[in-house]
Amino acid sequence: MQHTIKADELINGAKAAMKAAYAPYSHFYVGAAVLAEDGKIYTGCNIENSSYGATNCAERTAIFKAVSEGCRKIHAIAICGGYEGVIEAVASPCGICRQVMSEFGQNDMPVFLIHKDGFDEYTLGELLPCSFTLEN
Ligand code: THU
Repeated sequence: MQHTIKADELINGAKAAMKAAYAPYSHFYVGAAVLAEDGKIYTGCNIENSSYGATNCAERTAIFKAVSEGCRKIHAIAICGGYEGVIEAVASPCGICRQVMSEFGQNDMPVFLIHKDGFDEYTLGELLPCSFTLEN
């Protein structure tokens, strides 16, 4: 099924999700919104832990919510972040999140990185070239 990617809906979803960030250690709030194959938008925030390594990033929270509802493909993602939830520069996704995106998204999947004046658009393939995937 084809889904029209509405960047503005994803961007608003990421911004709203960021408000729920649990970030008492870094104070860096992150939000993400994913368009999944069922046509729904799944959102997520970062969830930190006193044992820092147990922290989950916003992107993975959103993607795992979609996958746990039965989705196996994602078509776009929007991400925002900022200290205490104030968006300035883009919050570029970490390597682990890029790898998780590549498990469920194609190379041409749009990735919208939000900043204070709008957003920058990349493809997943630009952010994670030469990736290790199911095809390997
Ligand atoms: N963080 C994310 O949520 N996504 C990323 O891709 C990078 C980092 C979170 C993890 C941690 O709670 C905070 O940002 C500071 O690293």
